[in-house]
Amino acid sequence: MEGKEISQAVIKRLPRYYRYLGELMESGVERISSNELSERMKVTASQIRQDLNNFGGFGQQGYGYNVKYLYEEIAKILGIDKCHNMIIIGAGNLGQAIANYTNFEKRGFVVKGLFDIDPNLKGVMVRGIEICGIEEMEEFIRENHIEIAALTIPKTKAAEMAERVVDSGIKAIWNFAHTDLNVPADVIVENVHLSESLMRLSYNIAKNART
Ligand code: NAI
Repeated sequence: MEGKEISQAVIKRLPRYYRYLGELMESGVERISSNELSERMKVTASQIRQDLNNFGGFGQQGYGYNVKYLYEEIAKILGIDKCHNMIIIGAGNLGQAIANYTNFEKRGFVVKGLFDIDPNLKGVMVRGIEICGIEEMEEFIRENHIEIAALTIPKTKAAEMAERVVDSGIKAIWNFAHTDLNVPADVIVENVHLSESLMRLSYNIAKNART
């Protein structure tokens, strides 16, 4: 598996496999066939076999997949078997909501710091984390092995802040600001746009109404 390029389409589907396998484990299921998984996930069994074969195939003919093993292997592939330290830049509604959501931590994403330019927010505690002034950010990144910076700031400030975090050594940006970021090739940007998801929903509402 080492060094093998996995397509982005497969990577995109893995979190969903991971979620289903987690639920199966919680309900005490130890093995599952691709057909059973297919029924639950509403994905064809051949798609499941094809996806999971990318990693050398964890299943055995007539025996199915070992749920726990598959769950752990997918975690390794997604890199969520390790902790990733994260900071949030912009401690407004969205930044605080992310900081308050404990489930990210269960997946290994640990919010270490919150930063904002608003002096009124300085010192405010969010789930045990103190909001700091933005001037403290660079040193904090260097001293706390921060891997990910979440940008929950207005789009007009995103380019400048992206440059600042990259200059401090950040290699991964979780971007919520509604703008595309220009970063060096070795920096990964994951854009999250809930409004785009809503537009797709809107399209499908309209499509259903037509049929
Ligand atoms: P908000 O106004 O509650 O919070 C923004 C915070 O960013 C404020 O506390 C402000 O002081 C701070 N800020 C501004 N410039 C900064 C800088 N240079 N450095 C550090 N902090 C700075 O806004 P809200 O609702 O939390 O939204 C934040 C951003 O996220 C907005 O741009 C909004 O459009 C976007 N957004 C994106 C979503 C998505 O799905 N991608 C969903 C919701 C909001």
